[in-house]
Amino acid sequence: MTTIVVVGSLNMDLVVHAPRHPLPGETLIGSHFQTFPGGKGANQAVAAARLGARVCMIGRVGIDTFGDTLLAAVQYDGVDTSFVQRDLNTATGVALITLDAHGQNTIVVAPGANMQVSEADVIRAESVLRRADVLLMPLECPLEAVVAATHLARQSGVRVVLNPAPARPLPTELLAQIDYLLPNQLELQVLADGETDLLTAIRRVQQQGVRNILVTLGEEGALLAMGDQTTHVPAFQVPVVDTVAAGDAFAAAFCVALAEGKSPLEAVRWGNAAGALAVTRSGAQPSLPSRFEVMRLLEVRGE
Ligand code: RIB
Repeated sequence: MTTIVVVGSLNMDLVVHAPRHPLPGETLIGSHFQTFPGGKGANQAVAAARLGARVCMIGRVGIDTFGDTLLAAVQYDGVDTSFVQRDLNTATGVALITLDAHGQNTIVVAPGANMQVSEADVIRAESVLRRADVLLMPLECPLEAVVAATHLARQSGVRVVLNPAPARPLPTELLAQIDYLLPNQLELQVLADGETDLLTAIRRVQQQGVRNILVTLGEEGALLAMGDQTTHVPAFQVPVVDTVAAGDAFAAAFCVALAEGKSPLEAVRWGNAAGALAVTRSGAQPSLPSRFEVMRLLEVRGE
């Protein structure tokens, strides 16, 4: 069994369905309201566990009912939470999500306890981290934790996959240690100083030291750039219900496949399959597919 370590966030998602996204200053009447366990880190951890990996998560929640619910949710899927701390002074993270009639989302996160994750939290998990196959991290925790985990992983030959979401400029010393960077188009643009042309942006970020960049393109699939070679892998066309956590499903499936020794291109197909399945269902963690579902989609669609 392969081991994935995730350093990342746990949020309670507060989701309102609306016909469209509101304009600034506008009040809209939506339809129903739901809560779902979410947070990019927890979503990625649960997705990897459902796909068959042993998963250990490093993170923080508050001492409150949202924290209880989120811990129980990831534990239900078998994620090891020994290194998820209960923060005494800060509330659990929440995400305010608006979903429009086409399943497209906007998200505002109040990170709370996620922003208390520290270098010391990472060092506490050192022995697990050093024995992992892949370290996977989104960016909803402080950069110092991401940097510390990256250093430990690199020293032990653990592959490092960074999902730079939400987008922020990153130090080149960190980028140079990443094996695969997994941005969406908007995140790539931020890392590439606002460059909007996809290929130019990829080259610009590669010049900062990351050789392998995998850009998720939503319904268009994904673009894998390894050194000078760029390959487009088309998406599976599916009915879209809710796009929340599709990127997390993609990132986790890519990492699980990579950890199992599949080629990077095959791993992208796994990512596309998991992402496609996730958009067909509501909610963050409830939408994440099982290994069986991913394998069946790859088989049925001729992979
Ligand atoms: O990627 C989706 C996630 O982003 C949501 O679950 C929300 O919590 C935010 O972190």
